[in-house]
Amino acid sequence: MRQRPPRRAEGGSGRRGVRRRSPGRPGPRRNGRAAAGLLSRSGNTWVLAGALARRYDADLFELRPRDPWPEDYEQMVTWAHEWRDSDGDVPLAETLSGIDSYRTVFLGFPIWGNELPAVARSFLRSHDLSGKTVVPFITYGSSGPGNSMETVRALAPNARVLDPFVLQCDQERSTLDSLEGWLGSVGEPL
Ligand SMILES: Cc1cc2nc3c(=O)[nH]c(=O)nc-3n(C[C@H](O)[C@H](O)[C@H](O)COP(=O)(O)O)c2cc1C
Repeated sequence: MRQRPPRRAEGGSGRRGVRRRSPGRPGPRRNGRAAAGLLSRSGNTWVLAGALARRYDADLFELRPRDPWPEDYEQMVTWAHEWRDSDGDVPLAETLSGIDSYRTVFLGFPIWGNELPAVARSFLRSHDLSGKTVVPFITYGSSGPGNSMETVRALAPNARVLDPFVLQCDQERSTLDSLEGWLGSVGEPL
Protein backbone atom coordinates (compact mmCIF):
# COMPACT_ATOMS: atom_id res chain seq x y z
CA MET A 1 0.00 0.00 0.00
CA ARG A 2 1.27 3.45 -0.82
CA GLN A 3 2.54 5.31 2.18
CA ARG A 4 1.39 8.83 2.91
CA PRO A 5 2.94 11.31 5.27
CA PRO A 6 0.64 11.99 8.19
CA ARG A 7 0.99 15.77 8.28
CA ARG A 8 1.70 18.41 5.68
CA ALA A 9 2.16 22.14 5.49
CA GLU A 10 2.12 24.67 2.71
CA GLY A 11 3.05 24.17 -0.91
CA GLY A 12 3.51 27.00 -3.38
CA SER A 13 0.21 26.55 -5.19
CA GLY A 14 -1.82 27.01 -2.06
CA ARG A 15 -2.43 23.28 -1.81
CA ARG A 16 -0.89 21.46 1.07
CA GLY A 17 2.24 19.87 -0.30
CA VAL A 18 5.01 20.05 2.28
CA ARG A 19 5.14 18.26 5.57
CA ARG A 20 7.13 20.43 7.93
CA ARG A 21 9.65 19.02 10.31
CA SER A 22 8.00 17.39 13.24
CA PRO A 23 8.89 18.07 16.86
CA GLY A 24 10.58 15.34 18.82
CA ARG A 25 13.96 13.74 18.59
CA PRO A 26 16.26 15.97 16.50
CA GLY A 27 18.14 14.39 13.61
CA PRO A 28 21.91 14.50 13.14
CA ARG A 29 23.56 17.91 13.29
CA ARG A 30 23.45 19.66 9.96
CA ASN A 31 23.94 23.13 8.54
CA GLY A 32 20.55 24.58 7.76
CA ARG A 33 17.20 23.21 6.76
CA ALA A 34 16.67 20.21 4.52
CA ALA A 35 13.85 19.20 2.22
CA ALA A 36 13.15 15.71 0.95
CA GLY A 37 11.38 15.96 -2.39
CA LEU A 38 10.14 12.72 -3.83
CA LEU A 39 8.21 11.22 -6.67
CA SER A 40 6.59 7.86 -6.13
CA ARG A 41 3.82 5.88 -7.79
CA SER A 42 3.87 2.52 -6.03
CA GLY A 43 5.48 3.47 -2.72
CA ASN A 44 9.08 2.27 -2.96
CA THR A 45 10.60 5.75 -3.07
CA TRP A 46 8.25 6.91 -0.32
CA VAL A 47 9.83 4.47 2.11
CA LEU A 48 13.27 5.97 1.54
CA ALA A 49 11.98 9.55 1.63
CA GLY A 50 10.22 8.95 4.92
CA ALA A 51 13.33 7.45 6.47
CA LEU A 52 15.53 10.32 5.27
CA ALA A 53 13.05 12.95 6.41
CA ARG A 54 12.91 11.45 9.88
CA ARG A 55 16.65 11.02 10.12
CA TYR A 56 17.52 14.51 8.91
CA ASP A 57 14.44 16.25 10.24
CA ALA A 58 13.66 17.33 6.69
CA ASP A 59 10.45 18.69 5.24
CA LEU A 60 8.77 16.17 2.95
CA PHE A 61 7.56 17.39 -0.40
CA GLU A 62 5.80 15.20 -2.93
CA LEU A 63 6.40 15.86 -6.62
CA ARG A 64 3.05 15.34 -8.31
CA PRO A 65 1.61 16.21 -11.71
CA ARG A 66 -1.33 18.62 -11.70
CA ASP A 67 -3.36 16.12 -13.73
CA PRO A 68 -3.19 12.61 -12.28
CA TRP A 69 -1.37 9.94 -14.21
CA PRO A 70 -3.29 6.83 -15.40
CA GLU A 71 -4.08 4.23 -12.76
CA ASP A 72 -3.65 1.36 -15.23
CA TYR A 73 0.00 0.29 -15.35
CA GLU A 74 0.40 -0.12 -19.11
CA GLN A 75 -1.34 3.20 -19.76
CA MET A 76 0.95 4.71 -17.18
CA VAL A 77 4.03 3.45 -19.01
CA THR A 78 2.74 4.98 -22.25
CA TRP A 79 2.01 8.27 -20.43
CA ALA A 80 5.48 8.36 -18.88
CA HIS A 81 7.27 7.55 -22.14
CA GLU A 82 5.32 10.17 -24.08
CA TRP A 83 6.28 12.83 -21.55
CA ARG A 84 9.89 11.65 -21.52
CA ASP A 85 10.17 11.78 -25.30
CA SER A 86 8.36 15.11 -25.67
CA ASP A 87 10.88 16.86 -23.43
CA GLY A 88 7.93 19.04 -22.38
CA ASP A 89 7.19 20.23 -18.88
CA VAL A 90 4.56 18.28 -16.99
CA PRO A 91 2.38 20.83 -15.16
CA LEU A 92 3.04 20.28 -11.45
CA ALA A 93 0.41 20.16 -8.74
CA GLU A 94 2.51 22.49 -6.62
CA THR A 95 5.94 23.98 -6.26
CA LEU A 96 8.22 23.88 -3.23
CA SER A 97 7.77 27.29 -1.67
CA GLY A 98 10.60 28.93 0.21
CA ILE A 99 13.19 26.85 -1.54
CA ASP A 100 15.80 29.51 -0.77
CA SER A 101 15.65 28.53 2.88
CA TYR A 102 16.86 24.99 2.21
CA ARG A 103 20.57 24.18 2.07
CA THR A 104 20.09 20.52 1.31
CA VAL A 105 17.54 18.94 -0.97
CA PHE A 106 17.16 15.18 -0.95
CA LEU A 107 15.67 14.26 -4.32
CA GLY A 108 14.00 10.88 -4.65
CA PHE A 109 12.58 9.34 -7.80
CA PRO A 110 11.96 6.00 -9.52
CA ILE A 111 13.45 5.24 -12.92
CA TRP A 112 10.89 5.53 -15.69
CA GLY A 113 11.95 4.44 -19.14
CA ASN A 114 15.64 4.43 -18.17
CA GLU A 115 15.42 8.08 -17.26
CA LEU A 116 14.59 10.72 -14.70
CA PRO A 117 10.77 10.88 -14.78
CA ALA A 118 9.42 13.91 -16.61
CA VAL A 119 7.67 15.04 -13.41
CA ALA A 120 11.04 15.28 -11.64
CA ARG A 121 12.53 16.91 -14.72
CA SER A 122 9.84 19.59 -14.51
CA PHE A 123 10.57 20.04 -10.80
CA LEU A 124 14.26 20.66 -11.50
CA ARG A 125 13.46 23.07 -14.31
CA SER A 126 11.14 25.10 -12.14
CA HIS A 127 13.28 25.32 -8.98
CA ASP A 128 16.67 27.00 -8.68
CA LEU A 129 18.95 24.70 -6.71
CA SER A 130 22.07 26.82 -7.18
CA GLY A 131 24.41 26.61 -4.21
CA LYS A 132 22.48 23.79 -2.56
CA THR A 133 23.57 20.25 -1.89
CA VAL A 134 21.37 17.80 -3.79
CA VAL A 135 21.28 14.24 -2.47
CA PRO A 136 19.60 11.94 -5.00
CA PHE A 137 18.02 8.64 -4.04
CA ILE A 138 16.78 6.39 -6.80
CA THR A 139 14.73 3.22 -7.01
CA TYR A 140 14.45 1.03 -10.09
CA GLY A 141 13.05 -2.35 -11.11
CA SER A 142 15.58 -4.03 -13.36
CA SER A 143 17.60 -1.73 -15.57
CA GLY A 144 19.47 0.43 -13.07
CA PRO A 145 19.54 4.23 -12.94
CA GLY A 146 19.96 4.69 -16.70
CA ASN A 147 20.65 8.26 -17.77
CA SER A 148 18.94 9.84 -14.82
CA MET A 149 21.97 11.25 -13.04
CA GLU A 150 23.29 12.91 -16.18
CA THR A 151 19.90 14.59 -16.48
CA VAL A 152 19.85 15.65 -12.82
CA ARG A 153 23.32 17.18 -13.10
CA ALA A 154 22.43 18.97 -16.33
CA LEU A 155 19.28 20.46 -14.79
CA ALA A 156 20.97 21.53 -11.54
CA PRO A 157 24.26 22.83 -12.95
CA ASN A 158 25.08 25.09 -10.03
CA ALA A 159 24.23 22.67 -7.27
CA ARG A 160 26.57 20.29 -5.51
CA VAL A 161 25.05 16.99 -6.59
CA LEU A 162 26.21 14.00 -4.57
CA ASP A 163 26.48 10.48 -5.93
CA PRO A 164 23.07 8.88 -5.51
CA PHE A 165 21.80 6.16 -3.27
CA VAL A 166 20.44 3.59 -5.76
CA LEU A 167 18.20 0.67 -4.81
CA GLN A 168 16.57 -2.11 -6.78
CA CYS A 169 12.94 -2.56 -5.73
CA ASP A 170 9.84 -4.46 -6.74
CA GLN A 171 8.39 -3.51 -10.07
CA GLU A 172 4.65 -2.93 -10.38
CA ARG A 173 4.48 -5.04 -13.53
CA SER A 174 5.97 -8.14 -11.88
CA THR A 175 3.72 -7.64 -8.84
CA LEU A 176 0.68 -7.52 -11.12
CA ASP A 177 1.90 -10.52 -13.16
CA SER A 178 2.24 -12.54 -9.95
CA LEU A 179 -1.27 -11.56 -8.93
CA GLU A 180 -2.64 -12.51 -12.36
CA GLY A 181 -0.91 -15.88 -12.11
CA TRP A 182 -2.49 -16.55 -8.75
CA LEU A 183 -5.94 -15.39 -9.92
CA GLY A 184 -5.60 -17.75 -12.89
CA SER A 185 -4.92 -20.65 -10.56
CA VAL A 186 -7.87 -19.76 -8.32
CA GLY A 187 -10.26 -20.22 -11.22
CA GLU A 188 -13.90 -19.40 -11.75
CA PRO A 189 -15.50 -18.78 -8.35
CA LEU A 190 -13.90 -15.32 -8.46
C1 LIG B 1 6.16 4.17 -16.00
C2 LIG B 1 7.23 3.31 -15.40
C3 LIG B 1 8.40 3.08 -16.08
C4 LIG B 1 9.42 2.31 -15.51
N1 LIG B 1 10.58 2.14 -16.20
C5 LIG B 1 11.60 1.46 -15.60
C6 LIG B 1 12.86 1.32 -16.27
O1 LIG B 1 13.08 1.81 -17.39
N2 LIG B 1 13.84 0.61 -15.65
C7 LIG B 1 13.66 0.05 -14.40
O2 LIG B 1 14.57 -0.58 -13.89
N3 LIG B 1 12.48 0.18 -13.74
C8 LIG B 1 11.45 0.87 -14.32
N4 LIG B 1 10.27 1.02 -13.64
C9 LIG B 1 10.14 0.43 -12.29
C10 LIG B 1 10.33 1.46 -11.19
O3 LIG B 1 11.48 2.27 -11.42
C11 LIG B 1 10.52 0.79 -9.83
O4 LIG B 1 9.52 -0.17 -9.61
C12 LIG B 1 10.53 1.83 -8.72
O5 LIG B 1 11.05 1.28 -7.54
C13 LIG B 1 9.12 2.37 -8.45
O6 LIG B 1 9.20 3.34 -7.43
P1 LIG B 1 7.88 3.84 -6.66
O7 LIG B 1 7.29 2.62 -5.99
O8 LIG B 1 8.39 4.84 -5.68
O9 LIG B 1 6.95 4.41 -7.68
C14 LIG B 1 9.24 1.75 -14.21
C15 LIG B 1 8.04 1.97 -13.54
C16 LIG B 1 7.04 2.74 -14.11
C17 LIG B 1 5.77 2.99 -13.35
